[in-house]
Order: sequence, then C-alpha cells, then structure tokens
Amino acid sequence: MQKVTVSLKERSYEILIGKGASIGLSGILSRLGLSSYSPVVVSNPLVYKIYRNLLQDRLAAFKDVLFLSVPDSERSKSWHTISKLVRPVLDFSRDKSIFLITFGGGVVGDLGGFLAAIYKRGVPYVQIPTTLLAQVDSAIGGKVAVDLSNGKNLLGAFYQPRAVVSDIDFLSTLPEREIKNGLAEIIKYGILGKSKIFNILEESTADFVSWPAETWADIVLMCSCIKASIVEKDELDNKDIRIALNLGHTIGHAVETACGYKSVTHGEGVAFGILAESVISNLLGILSEVDLGRIIKIILKYKCLPAIKKGFCPKRVASFICYDKKAKLGISRFVLPKSIGETEVVSGVDAGVIAQSLEKAKSFVN
Ligand SMILES: NC(=O)c1ccc[n+]([C@@H]2O[C@H](COP(=O)([O-])OP(=O)(O)OC[C@H]3O[C@@H](n4cnc5c(N)ncnc54)[C@H](O)[C@@H]3O)[C@@H](O)[C@H]2O)c1
Ligand SMILES: [Zn+2]
Repeated sequence: MQKVTVSLKERSYEILIGKGASIGLSGILSRLGLSSYSPVVVSNPLVYKIYRNLLQDRLAAFKDVLFLSVPDSERSKSWHTISKLVRPVLDFSRDKSIFLITFGGGVVGDLGGFLAAIYKRGVPYVQIPTTLLAQVDSAIGGKVAVDLSNGKNLLGAFYQPRAVVSDIDFLSTLPEREIKNGLAEIIKYGILGKSKIFNILEESTADFVSWPAETWADIVLMCSCIKASIVEKDELDNKDIRIALNLGHTIGHAVETACGYKSVTHGEGVAFGILAESVISNLLGILSEVDLGRIIKIILKYKCLPAIKKGFCPKRVASFICYDKKAKLGISRFVLPKSIGETEVVSGVDAGVIAQSLEKAKSFVN
C-alpha cells in the first residue's frame, strides 16, 4: 500500500492507496483515534448493493454503525438531501460521538463531507472513494458542497477529511462510462502538472478495461500526489494555485448545468471543457497547434466526450459560464493549457472566442 501525506499542519492526513487498502479499515480508524466513536456511513443503494456486507465486515469492531443511503444521482447533491439526512443522524448521535464515512463516488463524498462540515459545526469524517474520479480527485482536498439549481457546488465549505482510503479493488465493478468519467480528470492532471501521466495515456492501449490494477494504482498515486501538493500550497483556493485544478471545469460545469445534471456526467462535462478551453487557448495564441492536437487525440482516444446531440446548445452553455465560482466581478476566468505540463489563468476572454471554441468542441461530439 502506498501513502501520500497531505501536509496541512493540524489538518494533515494520509491518502492510503492500493489493492485492498480498506482491508485494515478498523486499524486505520483506530490510529485516527476514532475507535470510541460510532460511524455513520453515507452511501447510495448501488454501492451498498455491491459492497455493504464487505464494509460491514470491515467495521465489525464498531458496536453501532448507522448506514444512510441517498439517491444515486448528482441531483441528490442538494440541500434537500442534507436536510433529510440530519434527522436520523441526530437520533443516532443522541448518546454517542459520531464520525462520518463517505463511501461512494464524488456525489456521496461531496455531500457526506458537507454534512460532516456543518453537523454540530463539524464532526470527523473519512473518505472511502469507490469511483476512479473520486479516488484521483474529489475525495482529496476538503472541498465539500451541494449544488443549487443555478450552479454546481454553490453551497459548500473547505473541510478536510481525517483520511482518504483509496482501495483499487473497488474500481473493478465500475461501468466503463464511470472509468471514462475518471479518465477525464486524469487527462486534466496529465496536462496541468509535470508528471508522466500524459505519456502513460499516450502510450497505453485505448482498451483501459484490460489495464492491470497496478497501472490504476500508479495513476491514482500520481494524481493524488499532484492534488496533495496543490492543496498544500493553496488549501482555500485563494492564491491562484489551486485554481489550476479547474482546467476544463469552467466550461465543464456550464455544460453540466445546461444539461440539468442528467444526461452528462461530471467527467464528460470536464472532457468537453478541456477540449473547448484548449481551443480557446490555441485561438488566443497560447497553446501550440501541436499540443492542441495531442490533447484532442487523447480525449478522442478514450472516448471521454459526452454523447450530447440535440438539446446541447453552445449559447445555453455560454450563458451558464457567468455563474462560475472563479468569476471575479462577473468576468469569467479560464485556466488555459499553455503546453502539456503548464497552465495559465486568463480573464476576460472575448465572448466570440468562447462561442467559436464551443462550436469547434461540439463538432467532435458524435
Ligand atoms: N470535491 C471536489 O474537489 C470534486 C472534484 C471533482 C468532482 N467532484 C464532484 O464529484 C461528483 C462526481 O463524482 P463521480 O464521478 O464519482 O460520480 P458519482 O458519485 O455519481 O458516481 C458515479 C456512479 O458510480 C456508481 N459507483 C460508485 N462506486 C462504484 C463501484 N465501485 N462500482 C460500481 N458503481 C459504482 C455510483 O453509484 C454512481 O452511479 C460531482 O458532483 C463533482 O462535482 C468534486
Ligand atoms: Zn472535476
């Protein structure tokens, strides 16, 4: 098992990565000083169906465990769901101290983490991400949130977990679409940091289902290292460092919002966003034709784009860009790739350039 430390003084924690990383869960929780607490697990019906018994076994050391389930959809990342979870948690915690375990993908992680942040002004929580996207990205860094109807993650907090347990075994049951969802974030890491990730993606076979667990463990490790080092430098996202992780997200979130969070996964929005933002960068003379070509090739190789056909309107997508949290004084800011391995933050991109890039990116969608 590999360990990555996220060094944030008293809020530091470890990310444990590997096949079977969650086998020693009781020991991990005990080392965190949580043995005398009672766990509240937040997950969804699908993840429980596959893994509830296994998790129950791994939590056998705890006398009382509360298992909570939320609907399996981005739409459950809402204030409404939080308010429904509070009552059973209140009842359960009447006579004991609790901590939360988020067990699932980014939806459950963001939602459960937000509940942990606000319940009694904060209780400890541990992330056990079960999707590729959550292991490489959302479970790390303490950004927890729910969505509002006019934008994603608009109600949230920075609240670091006490540990992240990324067990590669959980990835074996993911449908292909969810692996692609995570691959979009992995492509993002490949572009924004000086790492081997982009080369690995270029050299590997497109048939990612056949990749061995060791390859996934290496990739999760590399992405976790990049994310940890960025979060350490800019925990609260106010130094223009952490913003690099939003590569592809200004347009990606707008695509998700425009599509009502239904037909498009987060990763599909991000893949489309990376493509469109790379085109913007090229139109502005920042990204070379060669690097733009490499980025487009990788996104197409792994078929990461959404299958958005009619109903997807660039004008509508553009209208949601102004709600982006990175916007300052109403002017949207883009993280644009400068080259493979380097990004730049650019404000005030001309609306015509955005429209042109959205049309070009749309031309790659089947
Ligand atoms: N907090 C952050 O820093 C951050 C970063 C990136 C993304 N996010 C958020 O993450 C969310 C997306 O997360 P996601 O892509 O993991 O989606 P998700 O949580 O909806 O999970 C995707 C699907 O996979 C299923 N699933 C989960 N684990 C499984 C397993 N092991 N086997 C089979 N099926 C499994 C889920 O039930 C769901 O149907 C978005 O809300 C996004 O905003 C947050
Ligand atoms: Zn993302």
